[in-house]
Amino acid sequence: MLLLLLCTAALVSQTAARYTANWTSLDARPLPPWYDQAKVGIFVHWGVFSVPSFGSEWFWWNWQGRQPPDAKLVSYMRSNYPPGFSYAEFAPQFHAQFFDPAEWADIFKASGAKYVVLTAKHHEGFTNWASPYSWNWNSVDTGPHRDLVGDLADAVRSRSLHYGLYNSLYEWFNPLYLADKKNGFKTQTFVTQKLLPELYNMVVRYKPELIWSDGDWEAPDTYWNSTQFLAWLYNDSPVKDTIVTNDRWGAGCSCKHGGYFNCEDKYTPGELPKHKWEKCTSVDKYSWGYRRNMRMIDLMDLPSIIKDMVRTVALGGNYLLNVGPTADGIIPPLFEERLRGLGAWLDVNGEAIYASQPWRVQTENSTGQQPIWYTSKGTTVYAILVTKPSETIIKLLVPKTSTTTKVTYLGNPKALPWSPVGPSSGLIVLLPQLPYSPGEAWVLKLENVH
Ligand SMILES: *[C@@H]1O[C@H](CO)[C@@H](O)[C@H](O)[C@H]1NC(C)=O
Ligand SMILES: *[C@@H]1O[C@H](CO)[C@@H](O)[C@H](O)[C@H]1NC(C)=O
Ligand SMILES: *[C@@H]1O[C@H](CO)[C@@H](O)[C@H](O)[C@H]1NC(C)=O
Repeated sequence: MLLLLLCTAALVSQTAARYTANWTSLDARPLPPWYDQAKVGIFVHWGVFSVPSFGSEWFWWNWQGRQPPDAKLVSYMRSNYPPGFSYAEFAPQFHAQFFDPAEWADIFKASGAKYVVLTAKHHEGFTNWASPYSWNWNSVDTGPHRDLVGDLADAVRSRSLHYGLYNSLYEWFNPLYLADKKNGFKTQTFVTQKLLPELYNMVVRYKPELIWSDGDWEAPDTYWNSTQFLAWLYNDSPVKDTIVTNDRWGAGCSCKHGGYFNCEDKYTPGELPKHKWEKCTSVDKYSWGYRRNMRMIDLMDLPSIIKDMVRTVALGGNYLLNVGPTADGIIPPLFEERLRGLGAWLDVNGEAIYASQPWRVQTENSTGQQPIWYTSKGTTVYAILVTKPSETIIKLLVPKTSTTTKVTYLGNPKALPWSPVGPSSGLIVLLPQLPYSPGEAWVLKLENVH
């Protein structure tokens, strides 16, 4: 009874907790549980950059921003467009005429992902929704003449996937931003007139469950008013109980403050981080946005995607895999094939991934080949083999067995014969002929081990 009272008290104090606009307070917020359980998400980079679809989603910056500009892009524009053609003139060609949100959401669902994150606004400043603060530079006033963010939201949610939005804080060429920058970020005109009203509007309108913040690094979080925004998000917004955020909220925040940590793009820690994290990576190794000059060899193949995902989850991370749709609204079939392959693997082996927890040991390589990765659910431990074993036995040195230990592989409930290695730990498992695996990875399920 006392315990019950204490628990109720804890619950009440937790729901009543309010966050203050400082990092000590905001960083102490527990991550809503859906996020850690989900493990796998799909990232979608789509915008005006999908029209030139050449180089990467940084096209505009690499063509006209950075010094010196990318000579390949300059020469491409010179050869293919009239003199004086501006980036903004690409927008009307962002037709999205084949965009079928239901079809996209079916593909995302089939990938086994549990959440989807769409670029609501990338660094170019173009919003994929009718932002009242982005006049004529949004997907309803021009281009598709369509609420891309909202249409995908409905399709994704009707398939029970969580929906997140990517938002770039900075905008490469926004005059208000450039003026603040010139003032050494002592003025906040861009933040108060554009960024914050737009962000509040976006949250209230679409109720995302994840905000993937980016483009923060040029200015401190005090310029972006990040702590004030997050305090509102966590205390008073319509998504205060479910919202998850990342760590890109100002120079120096990455890997330090916010919700979960992205650290850097494609972050790959060597050992178990102390804080919940996410690896974002892209099927096209060289771009997040679609690019027509992509080659087959530039793509991650399915086994490397599965290996990368397994390693990430074993080390406590979530895996956010990116695809870039075309300006017509097509998810290129090669990307679709990778996503469906991932889903086919997860159909059989998802038990070792979803809602799993890092084990006391995350990897071992006693077989001398590729490492074996571990995940766990209590006393059930999953040993994930990311290459086909060359022998008919496999030796695992770390698990401590007992007389009740049972070994199977996912996809087949038949118990496999095993014997202990040493007096305190380790086991040798006699493997059957392993079936075909779309990701060339197999999962041994060890019940009642420590
Ligand atoms: C942050 O907010 C908390 C809670 O209101 C407060 O106790 C603490 O002193 C603040 N920390 C800083 C560094 O301002
Ligand atoms: C932004 O932060 C400043 C303090 O740094 C505060 O005075 C102002 O009210 C904040 N604005 C918003 C819209 O949160
Ligand atoms: C594999 O094992 C060897 C020898 O124990 C060790 O030096 C090496 O770091 C291990 N590699 C990995 C990836 O764990």
